[in-house]
Amino acid sequence: MPEQLNRSYCSDDSLGSSGELVAPSIERWPQFEPMLRLGVMASGNGSNFGAIQEAISANLLKAEIRQLVVNNQGCGAAKRADCFNIPCKLLDHRKFNQREHLDHALVKTFLQADVELVVMAGWMRIVTSVLIDAFPSRLLNIHPSLLPSFKGLDAVGQALKASVRVSGCTAHLVQPDVDAGRIIAQAAVPVHQNDTPASLAKRIQFQEHRILPWAIALTGLNWRQGQSIG
Ligand code: GRF
Repeated sequence: MPEQLNRSYCSDDSLGSSGELVAPSIERWPQFEPMLRLGVMASGNGSNFGAIQEAISANLLKAEIRQLVVNNQGCGAAKRADCFNIPCKLLDHRKFNQREHLDHALVKTFLQADVELVVMAGWMRIVTSVLIDAFPSRLLNIHPSLLPSFKGLDAVGQALKASVRVSGCTAHLVQPDVDAGRIIAQAAVPVHQNDTPASLAKRIQFQEHRILPWAIALTGLNWRQGQSIG
């Protein structure tokens, strides 16, 4: 198991040694039979996309990523998809003259790939009800603050500017208001006096990589249970 996952997932305690708090605490991972079918959207480096795949490879998250969509050609996420052998499609937002048109293309792509749950893992575009309504309660986002504080752009910078002593990250369902849907999981981290945007972002991202796969499992469980009740 990779070192980071080993440290990240194998504690029964929600309070880590560096002072972070994860809630709900990461405990027994739900089993999915058949495996959860995921679609992922990413715009940049793709470290969260990578963390989802690592949790899958470590046999914690019982899922498969059936489709990655990126909006920036050659971005880090697309390169990672190559290494993981995951199908990657480019939907460049610059080629669509309305947000809804891009979202229709996303929906079509994910339906073709037969995904159950869609994860916005660093998707730096606002999405519309076209995508949200296609995956009700099954569209997740990761945001680098403890929502409802510091919504929108540069959440880490906003936190530093506000001199908060604790910040963190939130995995939440997506609804039409930006960064406002139901919260699935959060991790809190300390903000140190000498933190820079880069040092705080790094501490927060470490936790994003823990809670996003966990939030996918929790959301998937909810979805599958709803399916079996009919
Ligand atoms: C993450 O910090 C996430 O919170 C934000 O975008 C960033 C994406 O990072 N929405 P990465 O591309 O997953 O490395």
